[in-house]
Amino acid sequence: MKRVLVLNGPNLGRLGRRQPEIYGSTTYAELVDLCCQWGESLGLSVEVIQTNHEGVMLDALNQAADDSTPVVLNAAAWTHYSYAIFDACAQLTAPLVEVHLSDPKQRPEEFRHTSVVTPHADLLVAGQGVEGYRKALEFISTSA
Ligand code: DQA
Repeated sequence: MKRVLVLNGPNLGRLGRRQPEIYGSTTYAELVDLCCQWGESLGLSVEVIQTNHEGVMLDALNQAADDSTPVVLNAAAWTHYSYAIFDACAQLTAPLVEVHLSDPKQRPEEFRHTSVVTPHADLLVAGQGVEGYRKALEFISTSA
């Protein structure tokens, strides 16, 4: 079974309680369940991680690089400024899908209009809420 890492950055553990008008009412625990269910139906073994600590995220990305594991990444706010995340994503060899619940490019804060992940991503899914994670997993299930 193909293994996939779904990595979520800062504040995403508060999904459902955090600005639901922007990020939706699905809780983080529900998102984890959904990703595992979607993965199972696509023949993927999905591991979902959320961290507020950049080093933990970097370790997970470095491990994915060593193991050639496909990654679905919502780097949250790190997306917009972390060159360490940029460098870690650059090392990935298996497919990388960038996911955002909202569409950062349509939001008023200018800092959200830049992504350090996009240059390395095989696909960007934004503005589709939790459904975006399903699209990301579907893409990975069909990629080599
Ligand atoms: C986000 C968008 C980012 O701009 C923001 O910092 C997040 C969540 C999203 O999923 O829409 O924390 O990545």
